[in-house]
Amino acid sequence: MYELFFRLIFRRMDPEAAHHLAFRWIRLAARVPVLRTFLAAALAPRHKELRTEAFGLRMHGPFGLAAGFDKNAVAIDGMTMLGFDHVEIGTVTGEPQPGNPPKRLFRLVPDRALINRMGFNNDGSLAVAARLAARTPVFRAVVGVNIGKTKAVPEAEAVGDYVKSAERLAPYADYLVVNVSSPNTPGLRDLQATEALRPLLTAVREAADRSVPARRVPLLVKIAPDLADEDVDAVADLAVELGLDGIIATNTTIARDGLGLRSEAALVQETGGLSGAPLKARSLAVLRRLYARVGDRITLVGVGGVESAEDAWQRILAGATLVQGYSAFIYEGPFWGRAIHKGLAARLRNSPYATLADAVGADVKKAGESV
Ligand SMILES: Cc1cc2nc3c(=O)[nH]c(=O)nc-3n(C[C@H](O)[C@H](O)[C@H](O)COP(=O)(O)O)c2cc1C
Repeated sequence: MYELFFRLIFRRMDPEAAHHLAFRWIRLAARVPVLRTFLAAALAPRHKELRTEAFGLRMHGPFGLAAGFDKNAVAIDGMTMLGFDHVEIGTVTGEPQPGNPPKRLFRLVPDRALINRMGFNNDGSLAVAARLAARTPVFRAVVGVNIGKTKAVPEAEAVGDYVKSAERLAPYADYLVVNVSSPNTPGLRDLQATEALRPLLTAVREAADRSVPARRVPLLVKIAPDLADEDVDAVADLAVELGLDGIIATNTTIARDGLGLRSEAALVQETGGLSGAPLKARSLAVLRRLYARVGDRITLVGVGGVESAEDAWQRILAGATLVQGYSAFIYEGPFWGRAIHKGLAARLRNSPYATLADAVGADVKKAGESV
């Protein structure tokens, strides 16, 4: 049904307009008590075997919504209602900004992919913090807050911009993510170099602790799939050294590998980050490499090209405690989160592992690659 709907309505619309329309419907449905209760009851993960823990947080299931869909924290209940067990809001920047001029989101339907150069369009840390403070949650959800650099802030002052966001947003974050991997803010990905990343993560850690003295807010970093293998190792080592809680792998890619010859050449050449199916292999490889390096010392979150329960299961076996997705939600529709959790529960039941935690990294351990 959704496929037909997608073909008849969404596919004919500008992708960003379709996003806003779907978003409005989700928010609307979440405001109608009968409807939201019904949908949440039908779609929430309720398989006992999927209960898991990540950086000290208890989850009903491992699958969540990746950053970028709900940039301004306006639809946390709506997304939870659809079966995402955690919702990562943002990227939120220190100051509000409009992002890049449209058109900035492109669908590569035959490749089940997206290219975006949104450029962190968001309301800014002050407004998003106020929204989170005023929020009365309907559903229990784990809320991650993903922060990034304001475009207008010079690179030399990037740390201050992240610190501002961390101070304002940490009180409302179940976990905080330092995003240094979006390709659409000039210079951002240079912050992945350890000499830039070390002071940044240290300062954000201190800011979160200052802002929330009563609780240690878990801190994660989100990395790009385009890092060279040695740089993936360097980030992993730094994360261990700094006592980081997690690494999210990966953001979108600037590469265009893995694209069949099916999508229009003009679309493939659009500037921006590529996500969805063509990202699958590289994201999985980065995750596997990270797990081989850090083992169970740091929680890993697998994202990039996850389309099916089998994909999510492969991420868990490769070392992910949590799995996220974005692009396939556009193609698969509102019941996608439920399908992933349901399929994961079936895979776990048919596996030799008693719990989800036992399955984490099992493939890497089996191959003798793990630390
Ligand atoms: C339109 C769009 C906007 C995105 N915005 C953000 C963002 O603001 N911050 C971020 O960390 N990742 C952002 N992402 C990246 C996703 O969170 C995710 O890492 C990436 O899309 C790979 O997952 P997927 O293949 O399931 O989409 C965005 C992705 C898309 C498609």
